[in-house]
Amino acid sequence: MQFSTRINGVTRKIDCEPYETLFDVLRRIGLKGVKQGCDREGTCGACTVLLDGKPIFSCITPAPKVADRELTTIEGLGDVTNPHPIQQAYADAGAVQCGYCSPGMILATKALLDVHPQPTREQIAQALSGNLCRCTGYVKIFDAVRDAAATLQQEKQDHER
Ligand code: FES
Ligand code: FES
Repeated sequence: MQFSTRINGVTRKIDCEPYETLFDVLRRIGLKGVKQGCDREGTCGACTVLLDGKPIFSCITPAPKVADRELTTIEGLGDVTNPHPIQQAYADAGAVQCGYCSPGMILATKALLDVHPQPTREQIAQALSGNLCRCTGYVKIFDAVRDAAATLQQEKQDHER
């Protein structure tokens, strides 16, 4: 089957089988930032992408479900030469160790900060509850989320001046 969808701001035509997962399709078209950390059962969050701004697990999402929607993968946020403030905050806080969880964690953070620009500890915990990290112990990740929130807030204020 064929459908169109917007991925990272660009409309793309997708060819896939009706039963394929979004995870497989994204990897096939070269978006390798999406990771698999569990048995594709929605328990690790490494495959998180944003669908219309909300985090979803791409490993349990049928690809056709995203027809005519807006997808964001980690590649849509930034890269090493031009990182998004959230990516920069994770790097600066030491919240990226093996990095396997980072794309999903960062996208979940983006969805949180879009809705709660100054999140409480509970809101951070809730927003990241579906994303597992085996390396950092989460303290640095929470620091990164708070640092990113402060940076984005500052950027907003500077912009409004
Ligand atoms: S690969 Fe673990 S939730 Fe998708
Ligand atoms: S940095 Fe290794 S799993 Fe999170």
